[in-house]
Amino acid sequence: MAKPTSIVTDSGKVRRVVVVGGGLAGLTTVIKLCEAGIPVDLFSLVPVKRSHSVCAQGGINASVNTKGEGDSPEVHLEETVYGGDFLANQPPVKGMTYAAPGIVYMLDRMGVPFNRTPEGLLDFRRFGGTLFHRTAFAGATTGQQLLYALDEQVRRFETVDVENEKGVVIRGEKMVRKHELWDFLGIVLDEAGVARGIVAQDLKSMEIASFPGEAVCLATGGPGIIFGKSTNSVINTGTAASAVYQQGACYANGEFIQVHPTAIPGADKLRLISESVRGEGGRIWVPKDPKEKRRGRDVPESQRDYFLEAKYPGYGNLVPRDIASRELFLKCFHEGRGVWNDKSGKNELEVYLDVTHLPKDILHKKLAGVLEIYEKFVGEDPYTNPMRIFPAVHYSMGGLWVDYEKSADGRLVVGSPRNQATNITGLYAAGEVDYGYHGANRLGANSLLSCIYGGMVAGPAIATYVKNLDKSALDVKSSVFEKAANRERERYAAVLQMNGSENPYKLHEELAAVMLRDCTIERHNGVLDDVIAKIDELEERYLDVGVTDASPRANQGAQFVRHLKNMLVLARVIAQGARNRDESRGAHFKPEFKTRDDENFLRTTMALYEKGTGGKSVVKYVRGLEYGLLGKTVRVTDDVDISLVKPRPRKYETAGAASHAVSDVPPKEPKASAKTAVRPQTPGGDA
Ligand code: FUM
Repeated sequence: MAKPTSIVTDSGKVRRVVVVGGGLAGLTTVIKLCEAGIPVDLFSLVPVKRSHSVCAQGGINASVNTKGEGDSPEVHLEETVYGGDFLANQPPVKGMTYAAPGIVYMLDRMGVPFNRTPEGLLDFRRFGGTLFHRTAFAGATTGQQLLYALDEQVRRFETVDVENEKGVVIRGEKMVRKHELWDFLGIVLDEAGVARGIVAQDLKSMEIASFPGEAVCLATGGPGIIFGKSTNSVINTGTAASAVYQQGACYANGEFIQVHPTAIPGADKLRLISESVRGEGGRIWVPKDPKEKRRGRDVPESQRDYFLEAKYPGYGNLVPRDIASRELFLKCFHEGRGVWNDKSGKNELEVYLDVTHLPKDILHKKLAGVLEIYEKFVGEDPYTNPMRIFPAVHYSMGGLWVDYEKSADGRLVVGSPRNQATNITGLYAAGEVDYGYHGANRLGANSLLSCIYGGMVAGPAIATYVKNLDKSALDVKSSVFEKAANRERERYAAVLQMNGSENPYKLHEELAAVMLRDCTIERHNGVLDDVIAKIDELEERYLDVGVTDASPRANQGAQFVRHLKNMLVLARVIAQGARNRDESRGAHFKPEFKTRDDENFLRTTMALYEKGTGGKSVVKYVRGLEYGLLGKTVRVTDDVDISLVKPRPRKYETAGAASHAVSDVPPKEPKASAKTAVRPQTPGGDA
């Protein structure tokens, strides 16, 4: 077979890349591919504008330093690595933090309505894990504004004709074809194990079809629904990641699950109350008297315990999330000092998040979106009553293992086909579905950044890969695609036939209950053994599930059963990874092993799937792997690249602890504006 030389075959067929996921990472990947002249088929489980990125509130980090505090991409790198407890490979983080200012300016040019200072500059607010004003924001609906801006760019490419290298327009072919409401089922692997496309299901007609792709990029978000209700959208079951994991992709650092300290309940999900509320001066407290019955606003100042400020005078309410959530858990669960709840007669796992001391006009300008959410779902006015909030599962630092190529200056070689590549040749991943940027704990407002940066890196990487392929997916035998689609049709038919006595929603509830209770903030080996035994049991019981809905159209029940299986498989990766890691690092905290163990565990957890017996999955952990890429073999190990920032003990307690404490550079005297930022009760400057 001749090496393809053009994006259009001799017979006039257009070679496309498949991108799965229409959030920030997916859309950015699409844009970068189109800019490189590569047409795309974009698949999304939901209408693109409802992708989970839309829920992001607080902002996107970039060390632009407009407030003259001495912030820089280098400090951002150090703080991200430090916040992630040194588990992130540092070159991708450096690439990300140095690209961040350019990304924010690009978004600004795309028309994102970022808040601005009175002089017209972009405004930046504080977020966790830093003393600098580093977070650009559009009120408290930043994710929505970013998503809509990128969506507009992609819509433009939906109208642009594909042209061949000579500028000849290919009639009827647009740069982007969008397929919304399609569920990803798996990749199409050729005889050599190379990804050549995907199989997906139309969620309206339930038709299953295969689609060739020169490469496939998953940008499908996180797996929060494994834990039941979380801040995640109901679509975030991790099904796509689990499907490719079962096809051979490595899943890395699965045990690192982030719990966000501040959320509220809802019938469908737990709604995030953004960290930006604390970034703007919101304060967390509990009554000193655990039996305090007065409403929060009636409790006098002297009878309040601002426990984060007391214990962490440097960062106060803006310690990183792993620490804040653990402190809330300690206060409520172990000390029984949460807010008293009259209905249950207990100190529920709730604390106050108070903005009542802040000027209303500033709150309105900067936080209206999130304060409205509180008012709507709790029925109380947060401008005059301290909010009652509690921690909720929020984000997965772990995800599909992805590679990178380090440049001489310690960042990434732009356009290297290794960047964002999984260990399945031709399969890439970007966004929360990959594990690459946050180590053991993600800093707030780094996720929008990593999604967009991941897409900016994945696009050129895939373009290089596609341009150097020996053979097009369009030249792969059609039987490969038919077989892959038929396999999924048979699986789906088998799901529809399931007529056992187990209720799949009940199994999910049971899974979520143990995962939430035993595999989040605090982990104990004995208990984790029970969690794994429970997953064994649930995987066995899954075989006896009954599917009650056999409808040929829009069958959400059958779809859920399929996702449930994939959730069970990933749950095992998370729980087993937690069981294996005998240390405390970032979001993974074991009271029996209170400290970080850099001797034995400064390693990426690399999990590979094996099929077990009796419906059970097995996780095989490896210390390295190799994969083929454009005729070469790439070998990698689980060693974390710590070449840029030397691991140090992680402490956020010290008053005025400058973020520079993590670097070898002596701390600079912060400028006056930075000093005021240290006082957590001080609202950010007016915009
Ligand atoms: O709290 C927040 O606004 C969340 C931001 C994030 O997860 O990055």
